[in-house]
Amino acid sequence: MGQPSTNPKEDMQPMRPADEAIAADAEALSAQLQAMRDRIFAPTSQKTLRRFTSGEAAKLVGVSDGYLRQLSLAGEGPQPEVGAGGRRYYSLAEIDALRHYLAEQALAKGNEAKARGYVKWRDPARGEHLQVISVTNFKGGSGKTTSSAHLAQYLAMNGHRVLAVDLDPQASLSALFGYQPELDLSGNDTLYGAIRYDEEIRPLSEIVRKTYFHNIDLVPGNLELQEFEHATPRALSSRKPGDDTALFFTRVQAALASVGDNYDVVVLDCPPQLGYLTLSALCASSSVIVTVHPQMLDVASMSQFLFMTSDLLNVVREAGGTLNFDFLRYLVTRFEPHDGPQAQIAGFLRSLFGDRVLTAPMLKSTAISDAGLTKQTLYEVGRENFSRGTYDRAIEALDAVNAEIEELIHSAWGRV
Ligand SMILES: Nc1ncnc2c1ncn2[C@@H]1O[C@H](COP(=O)(O)OP(=O)(O)O)[C@@H](O)[C@H]1O
Ligand SMILES: [Mg+2]
Repeated sequence: MGQPSTNPKEDMQPMRPADEAIAADAEALSAQLQAMRDRIFAPTSQKTLRRFTSGEAAKLVGVSDGYLRQLSLAGEGPQPEVGAGGRRYYSLAEIDALRHYLAEQALAKGNEAKARGYVKWRDPARGEHLQVISVTNFKGGSGKTTSSAHLAQYLAMNGHRVLAVDLDPQASLSALFGYQPELDLSGNDTLYGAIRYDEEIRPLSEIVRKTYFHNIDLVPGNLELQEFEHATPRALSSRKPGDDTALFFTRVQAALASVGDNYDVVVLDCPPQLGYLTLSALCASSSVIVTVHPQMLDVASMSQFLFMTSDLLNVVREAGGTLNFDFLRYLVTRFEPHDGPQAQIAGFLRSLFGDRVLTAPMLKSTAISDAGLTKQTLYEVGRENFSRGTYDRAIEALDAVNAEIEELIHSAWGRV
């Protein structure tokens, strides 16, 4: 060695091979994430859902706050927790129990329509089919995961049974629901486990997990989903004529159908790419939401996305896949109405696509991005954490978007 080096580079640690260096970074990051999660969700490191004020509960159930108070004073139906100052708080499970209680009362009076206004479960006997909604666009950051999570939660809060499926190997939706893929999942724990082509395949019912959010179950995601992109070409090339199970586009559909009786709506959060997984999701879908951030680059890439999707779906259709959507809607996301260019592009989309652009845009809001920092949605965080104006504007926009989608679902069921 001799003289001390004057070249700073030589003072550094000997270079590690890239794989080891990256692995070390991954471990450090994962450990820190775990520590952060322990701090935020200590001591159980499980997420829990807040309780809802009686005002929120009344609005969700569709009765007046006064009527809820009456019920609670009379000791009828599920009872709220009474906090400081006599304020009444309901868990989402209690709100759900309240719906069932009120529905039974309505039924007892022979008012079936009213009962169905409380408990909104689909009725297969009336031909109300499982709604499978893909939230898609191959542009990352277009708001797919944020929209999926808020939609799933809105539907659950409003009395539906929801299965949320994370199809993105990056697993952001799973993280929002409290799962950290590399810690909480081992192998074969994603949808891939139920659609794979080899003998490791297992029933989706074994993969579905309960979440802390009443009426939402989750099929988590992680990197193994990516396997489907490699396994599919292999399966296609070794497929025996007539063997439909080897056709990629039937697999997600079949897996979802196997658990479909337990749910009203399935929300599929698609990955930001147009591979076999996204295509299979689209083929399994009864409806599609394409998220679009109104910026020129995003809109240009969406045009590519639409061309490619259409070409690929055409191949699927020629191969015998059926593709009839109850609805396909464009959802304008992270919208800033006072931004001239954005407003122009939103207007341009509306003039092109007309009613297929949801009337309500999802406004850009710091309330949503801030909630995201602690892996929460705006429905979870509660009003006290923000300035009222900020929170109310964001919730109002979210509710408007989701109510529109709920209405589309109900009209696909022939209800409106
Ligand atoms: N309406 C919104 N207002 C503010 N930030 C948003 C909004 N929607 C999404 N975001 C933020 O934008 C980022 C990307 O959104 P995300 O839903 O993860 O997109 P995608 O799933 O399409 O990649 C996230 O950090 C999210 O918190
Ligand atoms: Mg995403």
